[in-house]
Amino acid sequence: MILDGKAAALKIRARLREEVENLRPLLGREPGLAVILAGDDPSSRIYVRNKRQACAEAGCRSLLYELPASLGQAEMERLVDELNAREEVDGILIQLPLPPGLDSLKLLERIAPSKDVDGFHPQNMGRLALGLPGLRPCTPAGVMELLRLHGLSPQGKKAVVVGRSNIVGKPLALMLEADGPQGNATVTLCHSHTPDIKKECLRADFIFLALGRPQWLKADMVKEGAVVVDIGITRTDLGLKGDCDFDALLPKVRAITPVPGGIGPMTIAMLLRNTLQACILRAGGAP
Ligand code: GUN
Repeated sequence: MILDGKAAALKIRARLREEVENLRPLLGREPGLAVILAGDDPSSRIYVRNKRQACAEAGCRSLLYELPASLGQAEMERLVDELNAREEVDGILIQLPLPPGLDSLKLLERIAPSKDVDGFHPQNMGRLALGLPGLRPCTPAGVMELLRLHGLSPQGKKAVVVGRSNIVGKPLALMLEADGPQGNATVTLCHSHTPDIKKECLRADFIFLALGRPQWLKADMVKEGAVVVDIGITRTDLGLKGDCDFDALLPKVRAITPVPGGIGPMTIAMLLRNTLQACILRAGGAP
């Protein structure tokens, strides 16, 4: 089974669009997302363009702050403060990575947790770790949603996450081990100091790849019938490539996500869902 994230994301976005339409008369305005793009990283530019386009299609307003790489920490902090205070801004997203010289952790911590639609604020990450409701990081949330939509639950299974980034690996491991119908997995989080990642992958029922090494996972590293979720995406001479050797794995696995068209579109759908959730919560409603 190929897990089509593009199709799933389009359905979610259509539903969100209806919700936004229903909400607008009550709110008297559109949900608003502020996006900060600093420097000229080409991938970041594409991601931001796609996020803003999805926002517009869902009937949300997006405000773009394109800043030179030379902008200082203090000026960035002032901008975050201003956006925190603006009534019509429901969500604030700082596209990562930031240019060298800027302290991204400090900036993420400055975003009001109620507007933190990326779910990266320590308060929201802490709430995730404790199993409390809150805004969840978009990429791991998209992974969990795509599995749920296909009736795949890691409950009671062995899950291996390769890569321990704050954006993907760490929060994904927390979601997989959380108490709930889409959680309850036994999770191994692998990283550069794990002695034998191949051995770990061979034992896994679910493998989640977030390392950014094109075609790293080979067919001899997975057991028959495993589920492989590929979250890596790297620009190569042969086009965009994920972290697994998709063609070789396809006959061996129960389910697999393609790259592109797998988790990427789900991330954007979850960003819109978070923006709407933040908007509703700020307006005093139930999520
Ligand atoms: N850079 C790569 N992924 C992400 C993401 O999910 N959010 C932000 N803000 N930056 C990213």
